[in-house]
Amino acid sequence: MKEGSGRLALLLSGRGSNLGAFLRAQQAGELRGSVEVVISNRPEAAGLRIAQDAGIATAVVDHTLYESREAFDQVLAEKVAQFKPDVIVLAGFMRILTTHFVNRFRGQLINIHPSLLPKYRGLNTHQRALDAGEHESGATVHFVTPGLDEGPGILQTPVPIEQGDTAATLASRVLPFEHKLYPYAANLVLTGQVSLKAQGVVWGDEILPAGGRLWRPN
Ligand code: GRF
Repeated sequence: MKEGSGRLALLLSGRGSNLGAFLRAQQAGELRGSVEVVISNRPEAAGLRIAQDAGIATAVVDHTLYESREAFDQVLAEKVAQFKPDVIVLAGFMRILTTHFVNRFRGQLINIHPSLLPKYRGLNTHQRALDAGEHESGATVHFVTPGLDEGPGILQTPVPIEQGDTAATLASRVLPFEHKLYPYAANLVLTGQVSLKAQGVVWGDEILPAGGRLWRPN
C-alpha cells in the first residue's frame, strides 16, 4: 500500500461509508496520508467494523458515559491527540463539539455536510432543499469552527435535484459524490495547499467564498 506522510484520525458515529472511501483512496495510493485511528462515540457503529477489518486502530469514547459535553470532549480530545493526527476527519460524527475541542484542533478539523453550505446547516438537509424548491443539493467539506456547520468551506460539489426526488433518493445520489469529494478535499489540507486563516480559507493567493470552491469529480 502506497502511503502519504500525513496522519489522519477519523471520527464517526454510524455506517462509515465515507471511511470506506478514505480507505479505498489510501489503498489506491490517492490519499496523501494514512488513517491511523477511527474513533466512535457509539460502540455499535458499523464504521468501527470497517476499520477493524482493514487493520486500523479503533477507539470508542461513549458519550452516554459522561455527565457533560465538556467531560466527554476532554476525553475525546486526549484520545485523538494520542494518535498525533495532522488532520481530523469528521465523517458522520453526530455530536456537537465544544468550543474548547474545536479550538484545540483549529485548522486540522474538517467535516462533510450534505448541503451546499452556507445553505441548510444542521439536519434533514436534503428534505429542506426539496421543500424550498431548490434545483440542486450537494455536499460541502469545510473546516470546523465553533458554530454548527458554520465553518468556512473548502470544496463543494452540486448534485442536480430530479423530478420525483425524495430526501432518500437525493441522499443516495449525493453520497457517491461525497465519497469522491472528501478524500480529495482532505488531501488539500494534508498537503498544506489549503489552510484556515483569520480571514477565511486560503488557497494560494485566493480567499475562498463561504461555501468553498466549486468542484466536480471527473
Ligand atoms: C454523510 O451523509 C455525511 O455527509 C453526513 O453524515 C453522513 C455520514 O455517512 N455528515 P457515512 O457514515 O460516512 O456513511
